[in-house]
Amino acid sequence: MTTSKPQDTDPPSASGLKKGVTSYGDSEFSLFLRRAFIKGAGYSDDALDRPIVGIVDTGSDYNACHGNAPQLIEAVKRGILLEGALPMVFPTISLHESFVNPTAMYLRNLMAIDTEEAIRAQPMDAVVLIGGCDKTVPAQLMGAASADVPAIQLVTGPMLVGAYEGERVGACTDCRRYWARFRAGDIGAEAINEVNSRLVPSVGTCSVMGTASTMACVVEALGMMAPGGATPPAVSADRVRIAETSGRLAVALAKNGVKPSAIMTGPAFENALRVLLAIGGSTNAIIHLTAMAGRLGIDIDLDALDAMGRETPVLVDLKPSGRHYMEDFHRAGGMPVLLRELAPLLHLDVMTVTGRSLGEELERAARPFAQDIVRPLGDPIYASGGLAVVRGNLAPGGAIVKQSAASPALLEFEGRAVVFENLEDLAARIDDPALDVEADDALVLKNIGPKSGAGMPEAGYLPIPRKLAQAGVKDMVRISDGRMSGTAFGTIVLHVTPEAAVGGPLAQVRNGDRIRLSASRRELTLLISDEELARRMRENPAAPPSAERGYQKLFLDTVTQADRGVDFDFLRATQMREKVPKRG
Ligand code: FES
Ligand code: MG
Repeated sequence: MTTSKPQDTDPPSASGLKKGVTSYGDSEFSLFLRRAFIKGAGYSDDALDRPIVGIVDTGSDYNACHGNAPQLIEAVKRGILLEGALPMVFPTISLHESFVNPTAMYLRNLMAIDTEEAIRAQPMDAVVLIGGCDKTVPAQLMGAASADVPAIQLVTGPMLVGAYEGERVGACTDCRRYWARFRAGDIGAEAINEVNSRLVPSVGTCSVMGTASTMACVVEALGMMAPGGATPPAVSADRVRIAETSGRLAVALAKNGVKPSAIMTGPAFENALRVLLAIGGSTNAIIHLTAMAGRLGIDIDLDALDAMGRETPVLVDLKPSGRHYMEDFHRAGGMPVLLRELAPLLHLDVMTVTGRSLGEELERAARPFAQDIVRPLGDPIYASGGLAVVRGNLAPGGAIVKQSAASPALLEFEGRAVVFENLEDLAARIDDPALDVEADDALVLKNIGPKSGAGMPEAGYLPIPRKLAQAGVKDMVRISDGRMSGTAFGTIVLHVTPEAAVGGPLAQVRNGDRIRLSASRRELTLLISDEELARRMRENPAAPPSAERGYQKLFLDTVTQADRGVDFDFLRATQMREKVPKRG
């Protein structure tokens, strides 16, 4: 790839417009045609002879998380024009967590392919990726990493915080809390309807440290976002200014040609993982960072991540691990404050989209002031990381538990398994008054992993059986090969690898088996003998679902397990050349 600048010596083809021009033996004619067609939209030669910065529009009437996209696009354009380049807006698919079936996770890789090919196919010297809702930011950066055209991430930003009867509420940690109260009969239909209108008081992404906020924060740490870009609320002036800045920075990237592969390096991913731990971030981010890094030949080592977790305190006091909301984090100074606090644990010499190193950016950031959202390193919320990787005969490839959002008493557990074979079985029996279940059992859900056909849903947060909920039970050990929303809380073991659908040991758990979970020993064990497990595996071999055609066939044939990021095998780099985090 070459960088291009406006040159008056070489008209009419000196701009980004030349990029990737189709050539059937006469590339000058192809460019002539391209220029003729775009002039149909009223562009002048002067406009077309400038660097081109693409802007990805992922707005959609289905996607309130991206509801401010039109305003952000205007501001990005302004930034690009102020720097003398030409903005070109183009669409890719839009994914909202609640509006795509079976799951947004199922379509993340499609969005990544769409983004990669749209960037590669169309002429642009740099691109501004506007995303926000959970799967969109990883999809865009997976695509941008593979296309490797200079790119900057802009997020739509968190929604405002709502209020119900004087209490602050926000999507979607409080959605779950109020719904659990409704299930338990604690509040009635009228109240829950009223709450429904209060939870999402504006456009923007979920207001807690769920997956969207987590991805925004780790991407700022990764160096792919304008400094301070993670936290401004969707409807704030700061958000619009960050959009303008992102446009300006994209023009600089178009000129200096710094590509995503030069920014998203091994040390940069280490910084991102460090931040993930320090914010008590979403478990989903492990999968997404693994997928993003995998595009660049960087392998995320789960056990090394676990070791990093033991020495990384949780510093940010946000729901679901803590008490506050994203707009509070923004008022407290946002990510620069956290990064400065974490600086002793970060690689400060990594390059960012500003053309400066992370360390240089932190020196430029505003002076610290008193606030109560980001704790100092010496006075954390949790002394060691929010996330732990457990292993054992039930999860030979590992599983994840978010300790910071769990009940401490349940993190050392031994008890009976109450097993659900799949989502249908769960729906049919979980509220059955005759279900044989006690508060000190573990709920086990199979067949919600990548190859299950369910699209790896966020169903790992199994509901507490109604009769127990009504008796006041708030948390139980829950184990599955699926994911959970970053906004959820509870003692929940996720991403069990290998999954049940491909014959992982999880498939062999039976009602009444005993299971041991020990977060302190990083253990997840099915308490049966090796011989018994082997016998069950012989007698009940896996039959992974398949599809006849279409995207579903592509998905089921090529999707990888959680420890490979649930990316398609052919989209990952052909060779892994680096493992992060580095040990010791
Ligand atoms: Fe879009 Fe939560 S649903 S960020
Ligand atoms: Mg979510």
